[in-house]
Amino acid sequence: MTNPETHESYLKTQSRFDDPAVARRYVTKKNTLNTSKNRREMACIQAALAGLPEQSRVLDLPCGSGRLEVMLLERGYSVVAADYALAMLDAAKDYHADLLASDAGKSKRLVFQREDILNTSFEDDAFDAVICNRLFHHYPEASLRQQVLSELKRISKDRIIVSFFSNFALSALRFRLANTLKGVTPNDRIPIWYKTFEQDIRESGLTVSGVYPVRRGVSPQTYLTLSVT
Ligand SMILES: C[S@@+](CC[C@H](N)C(=O)[O-])C[C@H]1O[C@@H](n2cnc3c(N)ncnc32)[C@H](O)[C@@H]1O
Repeated sequence: MTNPETHESYLKTQSRFDDPAVARRYVTKKNTLNTSKNRREMACIQAALAGLPEQSRVLDLPCGSGRLEVMLLERGYSVVAADYALAMLDAAKDYHADLLASDAGKSKRLVFQREDILNTSFEDDAFDAVICNRLFHHYPEASLRQQVLSELKRISKDRIIVSFFSNFALSALRFRLANTLKGVTPNDRIPIWYKTFEQDIRESGLTVSGVYPVRRGVSPQTYLTLSVT
């Protein structure tokens, strides 16, 4: 395993969101619960959570501006919403301020905290489920993806839900074509083949137990449920 500090993508992704302006934009752009894209992503995550009982302990890492938290609380889970960027955590807390002030029951079941995904402060098997939404497409290096998967495996007892950008999608094809025409080698938001990610998953001692494409063949965003082998 390489030292994560040597991965530029890891450091860039850590710092890029730690900016109040970026976090504010993220809330307005991505946290709009009423978009079809968001609804589709939520449907995939809900399908991946099927059968997880109420009161389960769920970690959302990275939580970003916290768009999963309302859905997770409504399913009756105890939720830790964690992110490395303080700006994102502030935006998430602001976004949930009204809900938390008006609903003591939900408020008691939600904690925000700062965590680094490669080196979390959690005990082994601390959670019933861990969700890692929209991070892996920032990591082009297999060894980095495997280190993150290993840490998620360490802290989850039941299942891990991850998203990645799959090459099997029209928009992934457009992305590649546009970069080729521009003569640019992309180093972020990179689609990869399912087989490539599955290899990372196997190397980390996990197996895929569910596949949930957001829009099969159209959108690259794909969710997987992973189980410990
Ligand atoms: C594309 S956003 C996704 C946020 C959220 N999961 C969502 O879908 O709205 C990526 C998030 O990863 C966080 N992040 C980047 N590097 C991290 C790290 N090493 N540990 C924890 N969070 C990290 C960023 O601060 C940012 O909030």
